[in-house]
Amino acid sequence: MKITGETKIVGVIGYPIAHSLSPILHNAAFKEVELNFAYLPFLVRPRDLGKAIKAMRALNIVGMNITVPFKEKVMSYLDELSPEAKIIGAVNTVYNKKGKLIGYNTDAEGFIKSLTTEGEFNPQGKNVLLMGAGGAAYAISFALVNAGVKKLTITNRTARKTKALLAHLEKTFKDKCELSFLDFSRRNSSKIMSKVDLFINATSVGMSPEDPLLINPDLFAKTTFVYDVVYNRETKLLRAARKRGLSGMGGAGMLIHQGALSFEIWTHQRAPIRTMRRALEEICCAI
Ligand code: ATR
Repeated sequence: MKITGETKIVGVIGYPIAHSLSPILHNAAFKEVELNFAYLPFLVRPRDLGKAIKAMRALNIVGMNITVPFKEKVMSYLDELSPEAKIIGAVNTVYNKKGKLIGYNTDAEGFIKSLTTEGEFNPQGKNVLLMGAGGAAYAISFALVNAGVKKLTITNRTARKTKALLAHLEKTFKDKCELSFLDFSRRNSSKIMSKVDLFINATSVGMSPEDPLLINPDLFAKTTFVYDVVYNRETKLLRAARKRGLSGMGGAGMLIHQGALSFEIWTHQRAPIRTMRRALEEICCAI
């Protein structure tokens, strides 16, 4: 990569940030399409978030991805929000449009794109069980209701957060789909699991090799599709699901597609998805 006086700067803000794979994805993409852009990681302490966002204007930084723990907090420093970001209540992409900072959420669409393209799973009319009620679960549940699922059941270790997410969905979508609460202690109920078409792990459990298996894939129907948002390894959940003969996928596809959508917002050019996928496969994780 050749940095010149004309190089446009984009990057990612997070705390911590060293684990981020986005610099690899984006710099490979810029090289492939010969765009004079460079993507950098920025370690920003929580108390400096406002200053860091303001610096986008001062330093003429074109775009920024926003990751944990700033996806919600960043919204108060932006000039405008896309409709999705507003509804989901989280921003993972900021675009500096001639000094106006616009917030987007590409996680939701990135999830659906990976599910329907690499996963070849159409969620319309389906019965879905979602585990988790953090940032990832907000984007994924929004995407699923929007995509026309028939029923969405949510379970999470902290029941209060499940209820808050369900209330948010009810308010946003009214009667667009049947929404249901499942107590975390009842998540391995065969009566519920046997009717599930799509199961999603939207918790961070599985990121470490010693993490427990929270759900028993043997209780799903043979046709259940298992999606695990964890992307840094093949999780115990995916391994157990595959052993049972179920179809499934990890979160690398979501990472690639959300990144590709950010790339397109910043550059107004089609992202080279295959190059991004290859770059990720080279360092860690296949879809
Ligand atoms: P993200 O933005 O990646 O979704 P997050 O907002 O911190 O990150 O959410 C993490 C999710 O993983 C939450 O649903 C969390 O459950 P709680 O709401 O109960 O905290 C879930 N999670 C993390 N560790 C967990 C564990 N050991 N068992 C069950 N759920 C866990």
